[in-house]
Amino acid sequence: MHMQKGFVLWLTGLSGSGKTTLGDRVEEELKQRGYLAERLDGDLVRKHLWKDLGFTKEDRDEHIRRVGFLAALLSRNGVGVIASFISPYRAQREGVRKEVQNFIEVFCSCSLEVCKQRDKKGLYKKAERGEIPNFTGVSDPYEFPENPNIELHTDTASIEENKQKILDYLKGHGYIR
Ligand SMILES: Nc1ncnc2c1ncn2[C@@H]1O[C@H](COP(=O)(O)OP(=O)(O)OP(=O)(O)O)[C@@H](O)[C@H]1O
Ligand SMILES: [Mg+2]
Repeated sequence: MHMQKGFVLWLTGLSGSGKTTLGDRVEEELKQRGYLAERLDGDLVRKHLWKDLGFTKEDRDEHIRRVGFLAALLSRNGVGVIASFISPYRAQREGVRKEVQNFIEVFCSCSLEVCKQRDKKGLYKKAERGEIPNFTGVSDPYEFPENPNIELHTDTASIEENKQKILDYLKGHGYIR
């Protein structure tokens, strides 16, 4: 079964807010149902495509600009792209929205406290010790989406509930049946 139209599901939020976790679950579900789906994830892209880019404002902007280009290539060929990037700046996200077809901004809203408690990668501890400069939420800003297509509360609602909310949106907008 082919996806009728491509889309870019863009998960944004603080480190530890659950973007990768949710993105992987949605991908799994879409593939099980026979849809074309591809993941673009911050950690993987930075590791395999551009190790040279860091976390200054300039590098973050360039990182997201490149990812937006890839997302456009895929989505215009009918692929459901599931992108998970902190993407902390509004202008970055709006830039991608303009470049791609069917941009769906998903705000993974999670309090900084909960993200710090999870600290899955130990990054918050390092950032608080001053070992990671420009760390979003600690020493770099996160500009929350003012009008996201989907807002999830990843600190209070379960992974399953949030996955369902995304699938309901995709269904409601005719991307899946
Ligand atoms: N309701 C929830 N939604 C999402 N993740 C949850 C939830 N409850 C607990 N978690 C856990 O929180 C962690 C979220 O980590 P994850 O790597 O998905 O975050 P991330 O947003 O991708 O972070 P980063 O920007 O650093 O890549 C996981 O260990 C996940 O199991
Ligand atoms: Mg992640």
